[in-house]
Amino acid sequence: MSSPLRLGIAGLGTVGVGTVRIVQNQAELLKARTGREIAISAVSARSRDLDRGIRIADYDWADDPASMAIRDDVDVFVELMGGADGVARRATEAAIAAGKHVVTANKALLAVHGQALGEAAERSGVSIRYEAAVAGGIPCIKALSEGLAGNEITRVMGVMNGTCNYILTRMQSASLDYQTVFAECEQLGYLEADPSLDVGGIDAGHKLAILVALAFGTKVDFDAVHIEGIERISIEDIEQAADMGFRIKLLGVAQRTGHGIEARMSPCLVPAESPLGQLEGASNMIVLEGDSVGQVVLQGAGAGEGPTASAIIGDICDLARGSARPVFGMPAGELAVARRTDGAAPAAYYLRMQLVDRPGALAKIAAVLGDAGISINRMRQYRHKEATAPVLIVTHEAQQEALDTAIANMDGTGVLASAPVAIRIEKV
Ligand code: HSE
Repeated sequence: MSSPLRLGIAGLGTVGVGTVRIVQNQAELLKARTGREIAISAVSARSRDLDRGIRIADYDWADDPASMAIRDDVDVFVELMGGADGVARRATEAAIAAGKHVVTANKALLAVHGQALGEAAERSGVSIRYEAAVAGGIPCIKALSEGLAGNEITRVMGVMNGTCNYILTRMQSASLDYQTVFAECEQLGYLEADPSLDVGGIDAGHKLAILVALAFGTKVDFDAVHIEGIERISIEDIEQAADMGFRIKLLGVAQRTGHGIEARMSPCLVPAESPLGQLEGASNMIVLEGDSVGQVVLQGAGAGEGPTASAIIGDICDLARGSARPVFGMPAGELAVARRTDGAAPAAYYLRMQLVDRPGALAKIAAVLGDAGISINRMRQYRHKEATAPVLIVTHEAQQEALDTAIANMDGTGVLASAPVAIRIEKV
């Protein structure tokens, strides 16, 4: 039997506690599967005295995660503190420089500094593993970098923020508005300390930035991801989209276009009967498409103690077995520059508007769309709301620029009672 793999764990929140729990409770299983004992040498967290429901007295306590990371009796630095900068970054850099492998759940750190960290890891001959950083318990990093290594990846899609999916599906099932469900989430403790990370699409955008690098062989570039949150999604949109056979999801989509890699994290409509449309509650779903494999759909818990710790332990087991792979699937120096593309691929759009109720109002809107080269696929006018008529249009595929032009020109028609809402319909 080989020598133990020794961990230094920084961060004893939900994920850290879950990780320690699995190391303790599954010691025999892990040893059988990896051929090595997985041992914890030291732990570090903000507060030493908190009762976390796990036994940590057997491990050395470290006040400074960066000093713990470089200890001689630490082979793997497990970074579970979070944040793109500060102590998480400092300790991770120190670990890599000292020749320690890193396992992390920190999507922000990798999305913002992943390229530099990847290059540093390569120079030091160590691995950075981050299965837990994207979609919690779903092994999508392993699927992309190992199982699908023989494919040219054509598209990556997914619901990568469980809180947003919970909000959107709860709005629909209980017919509640956004503010009410957001307040519920606050009470339930579902939101990040800074809720805009969730509802502003940033947390999911970090995850997509990581997937893009791995899928398309580009340098990680969070700034190249177009991000929109779910704050503007109204109960009217949820209900009327449903009426047309769609669900609204905060959807990440990345694909190659003629002008570069398009990467968007934004609210989209998907067919209600599709796997993405059927995804309820706080679950995540990752859809991977490759030229040989076709479409692969992975679904599971994107957060929480057990699922996220499961991903952390999977990475630790890989390191225990001596498995090595470049941080982003190929040597960091060979990753292409991620070229930002502002234009999205053509898509059908959902348009919701309130029209003033007078003769020719609808005709004016249809004319503006026609002038922009946009063809109407389906249309519905609902019962009048006082003096205005709610109208819903589903277009045929159109260029985003054409849609932007049409919406700008609608303003001049004098028939809009409020600004139109436009949401992309993603083909899934
Ligand atoms: N807040 C995230 C979510 C989990 O709701 O999915 C951590 O990324």
